[in-house]
Amino acid sequence: MNHWNLAGKCALITGGTKGIGWAAAEEMLALGAEVFIVARQEGEVVAQVSEWQARGLPAFGSAADVTSPADRERIAEALTRQWGRLDVLVNNVGMNIRKPFAEYAEAEIRSVFETNLFSAVALTQLLFPLLQKGRGASVINVSSVAASVDVRSGAPYGMTKAAELQLTRSLAVEWAPFGIRVNAVSPWYTRTPLAEPVLQQPERLEAILRRTPLGRIAEAEEPAAAIAFLAMDKASYITGQNIIVDGGMAACGL
Ligand SMILES: NC(=O)c1ccc[n+]([C@@H]2O[C@H](COP(=O)([O-])OP(=O)(O)OC[C@H]3O[C@@H](n4cnc5c(N)ncnc54)[C@H](OP(=O)(O)O)[C@@H]3O)[C@@H](O)[C@H]2O)c1
Repeated sequence: MNHWNLAGKCALITGGTKGIGWAAAEEMLALGAEVFIVARQEGEVVAQVSEWQARGLPAFGSAADVTSPADRERIAEALTRQWGRLDVLVNNVGMNIRKPFAEYAEAEIRSVFETNLFSAVALTQLLFPLLQKGRGASVINVSSVAASVDVRSGAPYGMTKAAELQLTRSLAVEWAPFGIRVNAVSPWYTRTPLAEPVLQQPERLEAILRRTPLGRIAEAEEPAAAIAFLAMDKASYITGQNIIVDGGMAACGL
């Protein structure tokens, strides 16, 4: 309780090879946590974990697609072997298919839900026994400002992000008796491979910057810092909350 760090914490971060998940892993390793990452591209997982280990950091990982029930089982087995408990679960994986609502095929809507919402729901359920054994355990769901306002990212994406926030509130209450905190972090536009196609459109970029009091796009390290804070014992009385990392966007009416 005396230190602003994550010493002794064992953390799983989904989607830890790129963007916000990668930055969260860097931050948590720097703060003393042991970190296990998963992502689909095996070569990238192996390269990233090797790079961290070469720096003497306690990083582990495995290739897994969080939308696959078999892969989720393999993640739970790997964590059971590695630590036998879990202190921090960061549900970070997310994707988007951007198009006008009337043009979505049902399969496209389902795939956005499968990746952004159902995979996190199922993984969180599956890892509950390990979280119960965790020390000062917490779950952090990476949502988005698109949960609350339309940011032209498409209705399905916003719907999944809104559902993640309600999952956060409901589980915070239901799992409080088990000592498991559940919070969310909601980034605004952040420089990552996911946002790159939007940020490359000069008109969109200008509209985003005009709407952002701090006048710039977030770097992945900025939402990652909020994720790391929520994982700390220093945040021990914070549960059911959503930290919005948006450069002032939500506070800005005009
Ligand atoms: N960037 C933004 O502007 C922004 C704004 C608000 C909210 N967010 C949210 O922040 C989170 C992270 O976004 P990001 O921008 O960092 O994304 P990103 O740059 O696209 O990185 C996504 C990470 O997740 C992995 N991944 C994707 N699908 C996966 C799957 N099915 N199974 C396992 N791993 C998977 C990717 O690796 P592989 O491809 O190898 O699987 C990669 O490591 C998402 O939930 C996103 O919705 C982002």
